[in-house]
Amino acid sequence: MNDKRKKPSACEFARRKARGAKIPSLSLYDTPTAKIAASCGIDLLLVGDSLGMTVLGLKNTIPVKIEDVMRHSSAVRRGAPEAFVVADMPFMSYQTCPADAMRNAARFMQEADCDGVKIEGGVQMAETISRLVSAGVPVMAHIGLLPQRILTGCGYRKIGKNKEEERELLSDAKAVEKAGAFCVVLECVEDKVAEKITKSLRIPTIGIGSGDACDGQIQVAHDVLGLLPDFTPKHARRYANLAEEIQRAFTSYASDVIKG
Ligand code: KIV
Repeated sequence: MNDKRKKPSACEFARRKARGAKIPSLSLYDTPTAKIAASCGIDLLLVGDSLGMTVLGLKNTIPVKIEDVMRHSSAVRRGAPEAFVVADMPFMSYQTCPADAMRNAARFMQEADCDGVKIEGGVQMAETISRLVSAGVPVMAHIGLLPQRILTGCGYRKIGKNKEEERELLSDAKAVEKAGAFCVVLECVEDKVAEKITKSLRIPTIGIGSGDACDGQIQVAHDVLGLLPDFTPKHARRYANLAEEIQRAFTSYASDVIKG
């Protein structure tokens, strides 16, 4: 563990890519987990709207509200003052118009002390990204599978399987880079396409279910830790089985209490 690190700037991640250093990142939601992650050298932390499913028991990310992500972003900030903390802007907090995106991003920066925001979408979101970046908000872009569009999309599946999807992904990637995003999440993008995108961009690609050619990887902490026994996405690699550990501990505790 190493807890005396300097907080990276948004530009630092492109420098890491330029020197070939891979970028590990986690999506997490609370103070103690953020503190442990940062002390392990993971300094790009996302407060994902996946918190709807992992923490709040919701069925997808659509019902997640600004106040939910705000509350958890403040918690992560307190746990990891030395990390670059990104708030995932929830459904309809930025899609309505760039002015709403600016107003809501300002709340994440000013009230939750975040270092940047993440928004889903490529070409269609380029103008919003550009406005945010010009105003001083570092933006993590997100293309490929877009969970906030799950109800109008084709479900949870790999994107980039045919030439048309590949072309769209490449233009989305180019558009968010041009708009000034400091990195781009590639979610469930075909490995070969993710590799092409990674090679064609100066900013780092942070993959989830998109193969190992990406410049970095992001995983949901609950998946990595094995905290959700009833749900493990295909792309998640478990490094622990905390659900079992917790069950063992709670069972011993209950039995001690019952025995008096
Ligand atoms: O909500 C989230 O946690 C995310 C990451 C998995 C990229 O969007």
